[in-house]
Amino acid sequence: MKKIIVAITGASGAIYGVRLLQALKALPCVQTHLTVSGAGLLTLHHEMHMDRAHLEELADVVHPAHDVGAAIASGSFQCDGMVIAPCSMRTLAAVALGLSDNLVTRAADVTLKERRRLVLMVRETPLNLAHLRNMTSVTEMGGIIFPPVPGFYYPPVSIDDMVGQTVGRVLDMLGLPQEDLQRWSGLPPQQAPLASLR
Ligand SMILES: Cc1cc2nc3c(=O)[nH]c(=O)nc-3n(C[C@H](O)[C@H](O)[C@H](O)COP(=O)(O)O)c2cc1C
Repeated sequence: MKKIIVAITGASGAIYGVRLLQALKALPCVQTHLTVSGAGLLTLHHEMHMDRAHLEELADVVHPAHDVGAAIASGSFQCDGMVIAPCSMRTLAAVALGLSDNLVTRAADVTLKERRRLVLMVRETPLNLAHLRNMTSVTEMGGIIFPPVPGFYYPPVSIDDMVGQTVGRVLDMLGLPQEDLQRWSGLPPQQAPLASLR
């Protein structure tokens, strides 16, 4: 059984957290631990008209974001990785500085200190220097900055498709590859000659 922590914070793109939980729920070998910031609940409601109760049904275990005494706040809780989906610039900054000011940032801090996989689906645009520096800091500490930026080459046919492809790539990062994820296998033969043009 793999244990994965999913945190949802107040950046736009609550759908990424929801779709990630749904994908993990479909995997019998995974137990999910969910924590959601107050702003995360706000964006969830605003963007998806979803309330806390419906979100929490998607997780195996739920931890309030103010509960810094929860199991996932300790390195002795053995888990296989954490995803912050989406990750606000505020949470990014707190992780970069090691603030541990709520359960989301404490669990992320623990994930880094235990040298476990931490994926931050950061979302903001455009980016200021503080955002960029914080992303650099987290990368230097071993975290993975994973902005949910879609590729257009497979190609996506809907927003749902774009989100699914991005979530699938995050699952790759956790060592939980999806069979139905579209994977690049080279240009189609009729376009291949174009690849050698300069
Ligand atoms: C509808 C809405 C959309 C937001 N979108 C973003 C965003 O894309 N990126 C971001 O960094 N903050 C965004 N914010 C602001 C954050 O929610 C705010 O900075 C909050 O303090 C983050 O707290 P948290 O990191 O504890 O979730 C948004 C806020 C609202 C209400």
